[in-house]
Amino acid sequence: MTVRFSSKLDALPHYEGGMDLERARRTYEASDVIKLASNESPWGPHPKVLEAVTKAAASANRYPDQYAALLRRRLADRFEVEPGGIAVSNGSCEILLAASLALCEPGAELVYAWPSFSMYPQLAPLSGAREIRVPLNDRYEHDLEAMLTEITVATQLVIVCNPNNPTGTALPAAEIEAFLERVPDHVTVILDEAYIEMQTLDDPDTTVDLLPKFPNLVLLRTFSKVYGLAGLRCGYALGSAKFRAAVDAVRQPFSVNLLSQAAGAEAILHADDVAERVERTIIERVEVEEEVRGMGLETPDSQTNFSWIDLGDRDEAEVVEGLGRAGVIVRAGTPLGGPGHIRVSYGTPAENLRFVETLRGLL
Ligand SMILES: Cc1ncc(COP(=O)(O)O)c(C=O)c1O
Repeated sequence: MTVRFSSKLDALPHYEGGMDLERARRTYEASDVIKLASNESPWGPHPKVLEAVTKAAASANRYPDQYAALLRRRLADRFEVEPGGIAVSNGSCEILLAASLALCEPGAELVYAWPSFSMYPQLAPLSGAREIRVPLNDRYEHDLEAMLTEITVATQLVIVCNPNNPTGTALPAAEIEAFLERVPDHVTVILDEAYIEMQTLDDPDTTVDLLPKFPNLVLLRTFSKVYGLAGLRCGYALGSAKFRAAVDAVRQPFSVNLLSQAAGAEAILHADDVAERVERTIIERVEVEEEVRGMGLETPDSQTNFSWIDLGDRDEAEVVEGLGRAGVIVRAGTPLGGPGHIRVSYGTPAENLRFVETLRGLL
């Protein structure tokens, strides 16, 4: 007898994250490696967050609060919404997976833009839905008009990644609102806002104000990016109580561990720290964009902590390999849906300088 697995595994694309430092050292035989490949923050957690996590660790013999009451209450206070409509999760990825399971089934349709976050292609094979990918426009932005035309009676879920990963582009909240006005009520729209704090088009809370008007809207956010907590896996969704109940129903009861809950509950109190991190990110963004454009390469205006760089007629694999051999790890564009590009996350000023100088040397 041979062990048999579910046939959906055959359709499931492999999710390949950015190379970790150890693997990069081995792959490129480089000792001094910097990772600019996963849109992480180069700055560690706020000291108060570390304190809260350390304190929580002493109770690790106990299961975490199944309902994450403190974290959800703090989020509710911060965003002035009802805690009942807040789902917290083991990274925001968990909500994407749970939402696809809770909302979709064979015959359902799922619409998202492409290239966009490389997790989305997992959702249709897992849930049985049929996915419809809508190409970005020539400014690397979501083509909301084209997405609307793909919505049918079978559409269950639409994902809009704003700002978009991997292109770094963002649409203003007013355009998102105009889009939501035209989306039928039966469709859930997840606005994936993993990088929302870093965009400068609108106050990041603008979309929160859309929630009462659109019961089918879910804002998906994370502590992984601007808060510097990617390793702890904590994300959240602001939406309706029905959405929260649906995603809770399809996942394990204690998915957000004790340390993540403590970290998120503390981190959300430090808005001043977030503002400072955003300022530092913007300084690095301007620097990297200027340098890259100075080399004659095109890169759309980023509203995030990374740049999407068009390599023109240069060979993508050679550039990625050349950077890697010099100890600079970036993401190749092809697996992210954009052949001929690289995606580079901003690190510290010294790391960014090293990226820029190495790239210039290669070109
Ligand atoms: C657009 C987008 N959404 C969601 C995530 C997932 O973040 P996490 O699961 O760490 O919260 C990422 C991570 O890179 C992302 O780029």
